[in-house]
Amino acid sequence: MARRPAPDARTFDVVIIGSGAAGLTAALNLAGRFNVAVLAKGDVAAGSTAWAQGGIAAVLEAGDTFESHIEDTMVAGAGLNHRATVEFVVEHASAAIDRLAALGVPFNPGETISERWHLTREGGHSHRRIVHVDDATGWAVQQALQKAATAHPNITLVPGMVAIDLITAAHVEGERFAPRGCHGVYAFDTTTKQVQRFIGKAVVLATGGASRVYQYSTNPDGSTGDGIAMAWRAGCRVSNMEFNQFHPTCLFHPTVKNFLITEACRGEGGHLKLPSGERFMHRYDERLELAPRDVVARAIDAEMKRLGLDHVLLDIAHLGADFVRQHFPTIHARLLELGIDCTIQPIPVVPAAHYSCGGVMVDLAGRTDLTGLWAAGEVTQSGLHGANRLASNSILECLVFGQAVADDIAAGWDATALPAIRPWDESRVTDSDEEIVVAHNWDELRRFMWDYVGIVRTDKRLERAAHRVKLLRKEVADYYGNFRVTPDLIELRNLVTVADLIVRSARARRESRGLHYTTDYPGLLPAAVDTILDPVAARG
Ligand code: FAD
Ligand code: SIN
Repeated sequence: MARRPAPDARTFDVVIIGSGAAGLTAALNLAGRFNVAVLAKGDVAAGSTAWAQGGIAAVLEAGDTFESHIEDTMVAGAGLNHRATVEFVVEHASAAIDRLAALGVPFNPGETISERWHLTREGGHSHRRIVHVDDATGWAVQQALQKAATAHPNITLVPGMVAIDLITAAHVEGERFAPRGCHGVYAFDTTTKQVQRFIGKAVVLATGGASRVYQYSTNPDGSTGDGIAMAWRAGCRVSNMEFNQFHPTCLFHPTVKNFLITEACRGEGGHLKLPSGERFMHRYDERLELAPRDVVARAIDAEMKRLGLDHVLLDIAHLGADFVRQHFPTIHARLLELGIDCTIQPIPVVPAAHYSCGGVMVDLAGRTDLTGLWAAGEVTQSGLHGANRLASNSILECLVFGQAVADDIAAGWDATALPAIRPWDESRVTDSDEEIVVAHNWDELRRFMWDYVGIVRTDKRLERAAHRVKLLRKEVADYYGNFRVTPDLIELRNLVTVADLIVRSARARRESRGLHYTTDYPGLLPAAVDTILDPVAARG
């Protein structure tokens, strides 16, 4: 007789963890053949995708070429990019934009008859090649993908479900199934407060980045590197974790800490200034405000340190009030609410952690080291970004790899039975009586990551960070071993793992390349080599 699944176990063909651009793209491309669950730890639209402002890069104009987009991506990435991945993504970009337009994303139209869409410009791009929906592109992309997914009969969206750990051979009942396989995920249901099993023949990690490991970040609260930490614990290699991108222009404000001022403001002619009104980028790079992000963020950091400032200024007032209102309506309106009229006064800005270039290692089909586990989007290190991501290449990566993952899953579909999975074991834990410990550890971690593993690094600061990570890892592991999971504890456990991976990677790199800048090794080594961390080797 067939076993009836336990009430806490739900079985799908494919389980996707993450409902941003990567997860929803994969889901929509799988749903024609398979039934798919898409998990989100909060609201479906709460990931970074919905917050994206500037747009999506693609070669769309007669004067532009694939070669130029590839070259700009490799220059920004300081040569660490994998050329095959860069070519793959750049060459699939315009088809990905067409699919979004077909789903109803209302990209701004071109201003002449020969331009289908208006193309803006951002740092590091030698052409105008960024399609956008005003200054709120991500919201439009998320809405269109979500609408299509909601309407699809084969897609089940499951918000409020916090993935804890991947289900691997260690969780299979009876005989071991596939020694290096993935069969689903254990997830904490924020409504029932119970842990559920989501079991599938294929699992896709699309959990976004880890920039919330830093005190100041442009990211939503959920960017805590959960997918990277889960994959690492399950036995996947991760790489290039030292390359966390700091966006040069996050609003500096006493209460609003993570509002981005899009790079398109500089792309359209905005100027960075000191409080005296003096411009300063000419002292750092001949591309001025349009140098790649690592260069601009370091320049701002240097000026702030030199003059003891807590912020610098981004001035777009000279572009004209009509232009500003038309091109940056979201930013203009939000700043007005905060008492800043950017049509007549400069915007106070600081750099903030923005994007994780490193992550779970994947090939061109999004395969990870585990059979049955794929990954796409910011959670991955695909080889596209190298040591520094080029602006507006991220949503593009989500779209291209979301599709590639779906194609690969469908092509290799294997109809053998699923193994029986053990339920979540809570027999040795109790409810926590000291949740303040979680909040305290969380604050401490983010502060020392900002102070010691930020824009400019030294051996001494990294050593201090390593020491603190070690203590926190032990404390959090003890806590996790004794108490029932909560969303905050799940995230803290992952943040500590990610911090450890970042610090270990940063200590291993004895050069300054792209986003990793250390005064102890200011030069560039002749060979560009990925930093690969292997959990199997690390466990000895
Ligand atoms: P996300 O969109 O972050 O989605 C992650 C998903 O995973 C969410 O649904 C989340 O709930 C889920 N998740 C995470 N952990 C768990 C868990 N434990 N259990 C269950 N679910 C989980 N890029 C560009 O290309 N152009 C831009 O203009 C641009 N602007 C940006 C502006 C801002 C303010 C920010 C923050 C980023 C911007 N980026 C931009 C970067 C880009 O938005 C992201 O890299 C990209 O959207 C990531 O998409 P994703 O699908 O990988 O992850
Ligand atoms: C921005 O609009 O400045 C963000 C673009 C990006 O992160 O690619």
